[in-house]
Amino acid sequence: VAEQSIESSSNYAHETRAVNSMARRQCPVWSHNEWDPLEEVIVGRVEGAMVPPFSTEVKANTYQYHWDFFEKNGGKAFPAKHLELAHEEVEEFVRILEAEGITVRRPEICDFSKEYVTPDFRSSGLYSAMPRDVLLVLGDEIIECPMAWRSRFFEFRAFRPLVREYFKQGARWTTPPKPLMNDELYEQNYPMDTVEDRHHLAAEGKFITTEYEPCFDAADFIRAGKDIFVQRSQVTNKFGIEWMRRHLGDRYRLHVLSFDDPNPMHIDATFNIIGPGLVLSNPDRPCHQIEHFKKAGWTIIKPPAPAMPDSHPLWMSSKWLSMNVLMLDPKRVVVDSNEVPTIKMFEKLGIECVKVSLRFANSLGGGFHCWTSDIRRRGILETYF
Ligand code: NVA
Repeated sequence: VAEQSIESSSNYAHETRAVNSMARRQCPVWSHNEWDPLEEVIVGRVEGAMVPPFSTEVKANTYQYHWDFFEKNGGKAFPAKHLELAHEEVEEFVRILEAEGITVRRPEICDFSKEYVTPDFRSSGLYSAMPRDVLLVLGDEIIECPMAWRSRFFEFRAFRPLVREYFKQGARWTTPPKPLMNDELYEQNYPMDTVEDRHHLAAEGKFITTEYEPCFDAADFIRAGKDIFVQRSQVTNKFGIEWMRRHLGDRYRLHVLSFDDPNPMHIDATFNIIGPGLVLSNPDRPCHQIEHFKKAGWTIIKPPAPAMPDSHPLWMSSKWLSMNVLMLDPKRVVVDSNEVPTIKMFEKLGIECVKVSLRFANSLGGGFHCWTSDIRRRGILETYF
C-alpha cells in the first residue's frame, strides 16, 4: 500500500509538471479553476431557444407550478417578448466582458425546433444558451459532455465550429461515449409529485437517470486545480462519474460531493468555488462533506437569500442563480445588478462587483456561470485542497 501511494504521488507530481509545460500553457484552451484571470470565454445564445418536449427527465427536473407551461409549450419557442428581453441582457453582458478586454466567442445560431429521430427516441432540441452544461474545460482539454436530456442530444453541434478551431490550435478534444438515451436510461417509476419522495430517494442516491449507461453534464463538475468536484445528480450518474475518473487518471483527483437537495442538477448554484479555498455554499443545500473543506482551511461562505420576486418566471431553475456568478479574476465578479444582498456580500469580501441584469435570461435556467464556459484563464494547474 505504501509503495503504491508513493508511486501514485510521484505520478501526480509528474502529471502536474507535464500539464504545466510551456507548450501546453500556450494552448488557446487553458483553464484550471473558476477564478484565475479570464482571457477568453464562450457566452451562450438566446436565439433559437425552444421549450423542451415535456419528457420524463424534464418533468423530474422542473417545478410542478411550471408543468402546465411545459405541457402547453413543449416543442415550441419560449415567449417571444421574454426572449427579446433576455437577448438584450445577454448581448449587454457580452459587451461588458469585451470592455474588460476579454475575448468573447459565441456558438452557432441553430434551429432547435427541428425534430430528430434516433433508433431509440424522438425529440426536438433546447438551446445553445448554457455552454457550461455541455463543455467541460480541464486545462487544455475540452470535453463535450454526454448529457442526459433527449432534447440536448445534439446541443454540442452549436459549439462544433469553435471546438474544431480550438483543436486545430492545439487543444485536446474529447467526446465520451454518447448515451443511447433509450427508455432504460430513465427510471420509469420515479415519483414526480412530492418533494418529500424525491428527498427520500435522493438521500438513497436514486434519481431519474439510471445506471444503464454513462451520462453527465459539465455543470455538475466544479474545478479547483488538481481537485475536481462532482455531484451525482438527475443528469449525472455514477457510471458517468466513473467514466470520468478513469479518463482523468493521475491528472486530477475527482471527489464526489453530495448535498441536502431533492433535485440536484448542476452544482454551480449549490457549491460555487470562487477563489483559492473560497466557496459559496448554498445554505438551503448543506454539503455533506463540508468538514473536509474546513480541514483543508477553506473559507465557506453562505450567500444571502436570492432577491428574485416570486412573480418572475424561472422555468428551469430555482432562484439560487443569484450565487451562479462568474469570476473575472479573484477580486472581480460578474453579479446580477438586482441581487443587492449578494452584491453586499461580495463587497464585504473585498471582491469588486461588475453588475449586469440577467433576470430574463435567468428564466432559461442559468446565471452568469451557466451562460458561459471559460476557455482561457491565466494561471497554471495547482493544488488548493
Ligand atoms: N438546478 C440548480 C442549478 C441551476 C444552475 C438550481 O435550480 O438551483
